Amino acid sequence: MPLTQPPPEIGYDEYVRVQMDRSLRMRGHDPRERCEYLIGVMSRFVAKEPPPRVLCVGCRNGYELDHFAAAGYPGAVGIDLHSADPRIRVMDMHEMRFEDGSFDVVYSCHSLEHAYDVRKAGGEIGRVLRPGGVAVVEVPIACERRKGDMWDLGDPETIAEVIGGRLEWSEVGMQLGANQRVARAVVRVGARIAGVGGGGSS
Ligand SMILES: C[S@@+](CC[C@H](N)C(=O)[O-])C[C@H]1O[C@@H](n2cnc3c(N)ncnc32)[C@H](O)[C@@H]1O
Repeated sequence: MPLTQPPPEIGYDEYVRVQMDRSLRMRGHDPRERCEYLIGVMSRFVAKEPPPRVLCVGCRNGYELDHFAAAGYPGAVGIDLHSADPRIRVMDMHEMRFEDGSFDVVYSCHSLEHAYDVRKAGGEIGRVLRPGGVAVVEVPIACERRKGDMWDLGDPETIAEVIGGRLEWSEVGMQLGANQRVARAVVRVGARIAGVGGGGSS
């Protein structure tokens, strides 16, 4: 399904200001419930040994990294527009300073919809995953453009399309602990779908 929202109407600098402002106001939030749920889903698709290299995109604070460690996936690193934790690098999801194929898992929970250019950010997720690696993604859908939500990806198939991989698992339901509809997806890269791929500009 095509993306259901047009590209952002604000400039990039204003976009960053909005994202930072929102994120810093929520800096103490622990997304435990949804994170533990998605790690459980991920564990069906990712071996524990050797320990997978895990990247959390838009992790905001260290809680996601803690939850991965507690679930037996130590060493996860994060990126966000700001950092108060040595495990989190200040990096824009549109231009990640990682080599191609650096990670076995990219976890992106309520982050991809915050992209300025969702195809570019999705392409970056696909690029930094090794062939055969998986993206584990949750995004709100059928949402209003508010609170820094820039995009409504609409459905799991669109998540797979912007990342440029194959949908291995998906679910549409309610966000755990909140009254918001979400799409969840496990997307495996390296088995590209003909004619589909991330990385283009939106
Ligand atoms: C709604 S929070 C999600 C936090 C956490 N993943 C969770 O599930 O609660 C979205 C995060 O994405 C970050 N973010 C927004 N735009 C970004 C960008 N271009 N690059 C990296 N991080 C970004 C924000 O700063 C914020 O911390």
